[in-house]
Amino acid sequence: FQPKVLLGQHVLVTAGPTFEAIDPVRGITNLSSGKMGFAIAKAAREAGAQVTLVAGPVTLETPRGVQRINVKSASQMLEATVSYADAATIFVATAAVADWRPAHASGQKIKKDGSGQTPQLAFVENPDILATVARSERAQRGELYCVGFAAESNDLLAHASAKRLKKAIPLLVGNIGPATFGQDDNALLLIDDKGVLEMPRNSKLNLARQLVAEIAKRLSRVTV
Ligand code: C5P
Repeated sequence: FQPKVLLGQHVLVTAGPTFEAIDPVRGITNLSSGKMGFAIAKAAREAGAQVTLVAGPVTLETPRGVQRINVKSASQMLEATVSYADAATIFVATAAVADWRPAHASGQKIKKDGSGQTPQLAFVENPDILATVARSERAQRGELYCVGFAAESNDLLAHASAKRLKKAIPLLVGNIGPATFGQDDNALLLIDDKGVLEMPRNSKLNLARQLVAEIAKRLSRVTV
């Protein structure tokens, strides 16, 4: 039984990788499984919240009672997230958004022409969805509590603390290595203006439930 600590809240979650098209049959993506974000959506729903889950291309089952919006690219994820952010009171960004996308997606499949020449891909930077939402007026006024995730290979605490300030969010959650992509468990480090809380290795669902409880505690006191 989960206490309904998020009753009356509307939680928006991004999850999974994004897929950036090169041509109609090819693209660039990453190994994010979406499991942590889906676990957070489920835990938030259990805690009584209305939940919207903006999901990149993953085949995970939608948690019961959760509204799921499927997207592919970072641009689509930004558009969906920004539109649902208006109604949300909590935003948790777990998606592994591609940092770059091909500058020009070809409308037709790129063919080998037999000359041995390889295509040259140029990239443009993708929008930072979390930073965009965190800059919004409602987030600035403390009406939309923003939570970010960080996966760092080294110096987690220093890098994650810096990321929290750079993105101007009240709570940053660090994945404690080694890489957790695709696995069912994780260990987390919660960083806010008060300090650091470590959540030891556990299933992603149990960690999501603990995280939801920690977010609920912080809702009344939003400080970046
Ligand atoms: O800067 P970095 O990608 O390490 O930040 C990770 C956090 O920012 C995660 O919460 C991720 O979901 C979010 N993010 C985002 N849009 C991006 C890049 C990261 O929402 N383009």
